[in-house]
Amino acid sequence: MKFGVLGTGEVGSAISGKLMQLGHDVVIGSRQPGGDKARALAARTGGGIGSYAEAAAHAEWIVNALPGEEAIGILGGCAIDSKILIDIANYNSAVDQPIITPIGIAIQKAFPGVRLVKTLNSVSAHLMVDPDSLGQAHHVFIASNDVAAKAEVTALLRSFGWTSILDLGDLTACRAMEQLIPLWMRLEETLKTTHFNLAVAHDGSGPSSTSS
Ligand SMILES: NC(=O)c1ccc[n+]([C@@H]2O[C@H](COP(=O)([O-])OP(=O)(O)OC[C@H]3O[C@@H](n4cnc5c(N)ncnc54)[C@H](OP(=O)(O)O)[C@@H]3O)[C@@H](O)[C@H]2O)c1
Repeated sequence: MKFGVLGTGEVGSAISGKLMQLGHDVVIGSRQPGGDKARALAARTGGGIGSYAEAAAHAEWIVNALPGEEAIGILGGCAIDSKILIDIANYNSAVDQPIITPIGIAIQKAFPGVRLVKTLNSVSAHLMVDPDSLGQAHHVFIASNDVAAKAEVTALLRSFGWTSILDLGDLTACRAMEQLIPLWMRLEETLKTTHFNLAVAHDGSGPSSTSS
């Protein structure tokens, strides 16, 4: 599959590396594709590097690994219509301020043709692509208005090693998902590590919302 991964931070690095490992064709998008950081990442992962517009043009699937505040502006310059967009972003401001419109909802509204799937935004970057390393069951959440796109991204998550994938329904779930960030930050401060995640204990009697 052809991917465009937008952003060369922790998340962009982890996801593009994993996609390359799995044999996908990846172009990483950056503000400075000729810069040292982007070139080093491309060398490390084996992926291609380009502007955001070039990465998106290459892609069948796009990964939003940008700061939430920047995403709509950057996506506006990219060919994303009809493509699956895996939205991992959070607002930086969500750490200590209320969310007015969740970024997943705001992107879907700004670009109605995109097939947005929200997932992984409450998971540490290294665990996104190596969930087994925690050595116990823990959950990743997923939501989308597009049921078929959600199923395809669920399959991708499985290829990353995820076995506990909790389907929270449509994009109205973005508010709950993005509001986990203050809790995540507090847990990091308390536990003094990013090597943790949430696990949801349940009796499994609800509708088929959990695959584990
Ligand atoms: N780190 C995590 O563990 C984690 C976990 C879950 C969710 N997230 C979310 O995933 C997204 C990416 O996280 P990250 O940790 O990879 O962030 P990051 O290290 O700050 O990287 C974000 C990337 O976005 C690009 N960018 C474009 N415009 C920018 C701007 N104005 N300021 C800063 N960066 C800009 C940069 O790439 P170029 O310089 O190459 O353009 C930058 O490397 C965020 O929304 C974050 O909340 C992160």
